[in-house]
Amino acid sequence: MQHGYFDDNAREYVIDRVDVPVSWTNYIGVKDMCAVLNHTAGGYLFHKSPQYHRITRFRPNGVPLDRPGHYVYLRDDENPDPACDSLLPDFWSLSWQPTAKPLEHYCCRHGLSYSTYMCDYGGIRASQTHFIPLDDPIYLIDIELENISGKARNLSLFTYAEFSYHHIVFDNQNFQMSNYCAGSSYENGVIEYDLFYEPEGYQWAAACFEPNSFDCLRDSFLGVYNTESNPAAVQNGICSNSFEKTGNHCAALHKRIELAPGEKKRFVFMIGEGRRENAYDLRAKYSKPETRDAERARLAEYWRDKLGALQIDTPHPGMNTMLNTWTLYQSEVNVIFSRFASFIEVGGRTGLGYRDTAQDAMCVPHSNPGKCLSRIRELLQGLTSRGWGLHLFEPEWFLPKEQKKTPVRSPTVVPMPDTSDMIREDLRDTCSDDALWLIAAICEYIKETGELSFLDEQIGYADGGSGSVYEHMTKILDFSAEQVGETGVCKGLRADWNDCLNLGGGESAMVSFLHAWALEYFVELCGFLGKREDGARYQGMLEKVRATCERELWDGKWYIRGITKSGMKIGTQESDEGKVHMESNTWAVISGVAERSRAVSCMDAVNAYLYTPWGLMLNAPSFTVPNDDIGYMTRVYPGVKENGAIFSHPNPWAWVAEAKLGRGGRAMKFYDALLPYHQNDKIEIRQSEPYMYCQFVMGREHTAHGRARHPWMTGTGGWAYFAATHYMLGLRPDYDRLVIDPCLPGDWPGFTAVRRWRGATYNIEVFNPGGVEKGVRHVTLNGSKVDAVPVCPPGSVNRVIVEMGGV
Ligand code: GLC
Repeated sequence: MQHGYFDDNAREYVIDRVDVPVSWTNYIGVKDMCAVLNHTAGGYLFHKSPQYHRITRFRPNGVPLDRPGHYVYLRDDENPDPACDSLLPDFWSLSWQPTAKPLEHYCCRHGLSYSTYMCDYGGIRASQTHFIPLDDPIYLIDIELENISGKARNLSLFTYAEFSYHHIVFDNQNFQMSNYCAGSSYENGVIEYDLFYEPEGYQWAAACFEPNSFDCLRDSFLGVYNTESNPAAVQNGICSNSFEKTGNHCAALHKRIELAPGEKKRFVFMIGEGRRENAYDLRAKYSKPETRDAERARLAEYWRDKLGALQIDTPHPGMNTMLNTWTLYQSEVNVIFSRFASFIEVGGRTGLGYRDTAQDAMCVPHSNPGKCLSRIRELLQGLTSRGWGLHLFEPEWFLPKEQKKTPVRSPTVVPMPDTSDMIREDLRDTCSDDALWLIAAICEYIKETGELSFLDEQIGYADGGSGSVYEHMTKILDFSAEQVGETGVCKGLRADWNDCLNLGGGESAMVSFLHAWALEYFVELCGFLGKREDGARYQGMLEKVRATCERELWDGKWYIRGITKSGMKIGTQESDEGKVHMESNTWAVISGVAERSRAVSCMDAVNAYLYTPWGLMLNAPSFTVPNDDIGYMTRVYPGVKENGAIFSHPNPWAWVAEAKLGRGGRAMKFYDALLPYHQNDKIEIRQSEPYMYCQFVMGREHTAHGRARHPWMTGTGGWAYFAATHYMLGLRPDYDRLVIDPCLPGDWPGFTAVRRWRGATYNIEVFNPGGVEKGVRHVTLNGSKVDAVPVCPPGSVNRVIVEMGGV
C-alpha cells in the first residue's frame, strides 16, 4: 500500500492519502528556529533548544498522535454542515486534522525546510505553506484561498497555535507553579505571550490582517469540553477576545472574508521570537506576499547550493532520489538540530550526544562546512584532558562567562548540578567509543576543505587547560590505548556504540577496531604533515592494536563482539544467542585490520546470518536470556532495537566493508534492502515515512518484522550518505586529491556526478565497459591522463573521465 510519491523535480514527497499509520514528519527551519511538523500540520516549534526554549506545545505519545499543531480552520459563515441534520456550522482544517472533516482533495508536500498542505472542500481551494525565512526568527503560514464554487462566499478564517511553557520540565510537571507564570496580552493586532519569570520569555503572534476577533487563552478558544477538533470559537464563528496573566495560552486570530466567484486571496499567520516591539516591523515586512515569495526563493536557493555540492546520475532511480535530495537532507537536519527534537524525543535530553554529533559532523562537510566545524569545535571543548568525551553535554557549559545566557530560573527550587559534577573521574558515564569518532570527523573536514591550519587552533578541555586540535587528537588515541582489558582489547566501559552493550571492564571488539581506524586516519595525517616522529609512534600503536585484534578476536569464521568481565566471549560459533554481530565484523574490515580471507569470511557470515529483505539485523539470533554482564540488550525484546532489530545505522558500515572488499553487487544488495524508497509501496508493513531512514526496523524475530520506527534523527542518514557516496560511488576527497574509486554492481555501465570541491567543479563520468565491480584503469582530467585528480583552481570547471576495468 502506498500513501504518496516522490516528486523529484520539486524535490518534494507528496502525501496524497492522509491516513498514514504514524506521523510523517518534516523539519521547518535551518538555523535557530525549528518546527517539527507532520502530514496534518501537527507538531511544535522551538528556538535554539527544544529542551528549554519551546514555543508551541506538543502532547507527545498522545491520542490522537499529532496534537496540537499549527492549524488553519475555515468556516462557512452562511451554510450549515451538509453532513449533519442539525444546523451545525460547516468548518474544516486545511491540513485535514484536527477537524478530520473528509476533504474532497488533500495533499501534503513535504519539501526542503517547508511543508505545503492543499485541500479542496465545499467549493474552496486552499493551500498553506509553513516555512521559516533564512534570517528572521519568525514562523510563517502562508495561506492562499480560491473560490472555485462559482458563487460569492462568506467565510471565517481562524489561525491557531498553542503556546508552551518554555522548559520541558515546566511544561510537564509542577503546574501549581507553571500555570501561574505565563501571561498573554493583545495590542495593535499583535498577541504577546510572556513568561514573566524568564529574561528571554517572550513570543508574539500576528497576521497580515486586523482580526475581527482573537483569543489568547486556550480554553476560551477551544471551550473547556471541546478539543482542537471542534473549537468553540470556530463553532460560534467568533473568538472571545480573551487574555490574562496566568493560564494556558494560544494565538488564535479570526478574520471574516468575502470571496467573489473565482477570486483568490492570500493571508499570512506568523509566530515570532521576542517581544511585541519586535513584531511591528516584521509583521509589516512579511505581510507583503512579495516578501514571502522572495524568502521562499532564498530558501530554495540555500538548498540548491547545498545539494549542488554533489549531484549524481546513476542507473538506480532510488539511489538518485535519495542521495540527491533526501539522505543529504536527513544528514543536514541531524547536524543542524542534533537529535533530541522529534515526535519520539520531544526535547527532554540535554545538548549534544558525543558520538552521535561526531558522526553527523563527519558526513556532510561538503554541504555544510560551517556547521560541521562548529560541531567539531563544541566536541573538542567537551573532551577531557585525559582524552575521553562527555557523553552528553551542553556546549554552553564551556562558553566564556560573558557569552553564557542567563539560565532559565525555575520558579521553585530545583537542585542544579554543577558542571564539575558532569566530569566523573571514575569513568562511570564514559562510553569507550565516543571520542574516537571525532578523529575521522576532523580528518574528513580537512580533506574536504583543505583547512590544515585548524589543527593548530587552541581549544580548551572540558576539565580545564587547553591544547591544539592536533593535541586533542593524540589524547583521544592515547586514552583508548590505555583503557584496555586483560587481553589488550579496549574496555567496553559504560557502553560502546551500542548503548545496550554494557561491558564495563569487559572488552569491546568494536572499540579496538575503531581505535585502529582512527589510528589509520591519524597516521595518514602525520604522513601528510611530515610529522615523522608522531607518525612512527602511532604507527607502532596501530600495529599493536591490529595484532591484538587478530590474536584475540578471530573466532574461526568471524570476529567475536567482545568479552565480558568474567571472561565470556560474546558472538562465537558456540553461542546459541547473539552468535554473529554486525559491529565487530563490519569494523574488522573497515578498519583494515582483517586480512583478506578473514574479511571475506566474516562478511559472508554477516550475509548468511543477518541479511533480511528489510536490511541487516544487528545481531542474530536475538538474546532471550537476560545477562547483565552483556548488558541491557539482553533485556530488550527479541527483534527490537539493539537486540536483533534491523538497526539501520550500522547497515552502511556493511556497504563500506563490502566496497572495501570490492564486492559491489553485495554492497548494493545490502543498500537496496534498507532503502526506504523501495518500501514506498509497503507502507502497511513499514508504516514510517519512505523518504527517511529510521533508527530501526523490527527484526526477523519480531511479529511486526519490517515495521520501521524513529525516523529522521538517526546517524543512519549521515552514514548512508557517507558510505554510498564515498565508498560505493567512490568519490572521496583526500588531502591533496579527489579519489574516484567506485565499487559498483557489475551490470552498471557507469554513472555521472557533479562534485564541487574546494571551489572547483568536477563533472565526472565513470564508464564500466568491462562490467567489473571495482578497479580503475585510467583517469583523464580535461583530456589529459592523470594518476590522481588534483585540487583544481577555484572557479574552474573540470571534466573527469574514469574508466573502470582491470588495471
Ligand atoms: C541510538 C543512540 C546512539 C547509539 C545507538 C545504538 O541511536 O543515539 O548513540 O549509538 O542508539 O545503541
